[in-house]
Amino acid sequence: MRIEIVNGPNLNLLGTREPEVYGHQNFEGFLDELRSRYADVQIGYFQSNVEGELINHLQKVGFEADGIVLNAGAYTHTSVALHDCIRAITSPVVEVHISNVHAREEFRHHSLISSACRGVICGFGLDSYRLAIEALKAQQTHPQQTHPQQTHPLPLPKKEGNS
Ligand code: DQA
Repeated sequence: MRIEIVNGPNLNLLGTREPEVYGHQNFEGFLDELRSRYADVQIGYFQSNVEGELINHLQKVGFEADGIVLNAGAYTHTSVALHDCIRAITSPVVEVHISNVHAREEFRHHSLISSACRGVICGFGLDSYRLAIEALKAQQTHPQQTHPQQTHPLPLPKKEGNS
């Protein structure tokens, strides 16, 4: 099984960036741990601070990887282009966040990419990435149980007062 982890802007600074929010561990060290824990999974890694480079990379791996774990950083909240890219590729994408974005500033409460992703995991620190790998592995073994009847895109809820 081949899984690609893609990290967006400022995630290259993990370990030193706001450690009270993102912890003290750098991503490379964590990645080594992940790779030895999941020796049966081929785990690729890409990080960029540039939106277009993230899109180029997703297009490159997104038709062959068995799954993509994407932390789009702040582009989560702004990027229609990433949303479109996730829809355009065929590999299932799991959106992850280290912090619980819903417990933070309001501008982080909305994700432009969630609706294009297979699922979302946030708030478990770096363990969010491991949980996403577990989800993708389970998805591969038991697709029905982990991916029930996804309508894509979901219908909008009816507004009150509309008949
Ligand atoms: C983040 C949350 C985003 O709001 C923020 O812009 C990041 C990191 C997280 O992993 O918690 O860069 O995606």
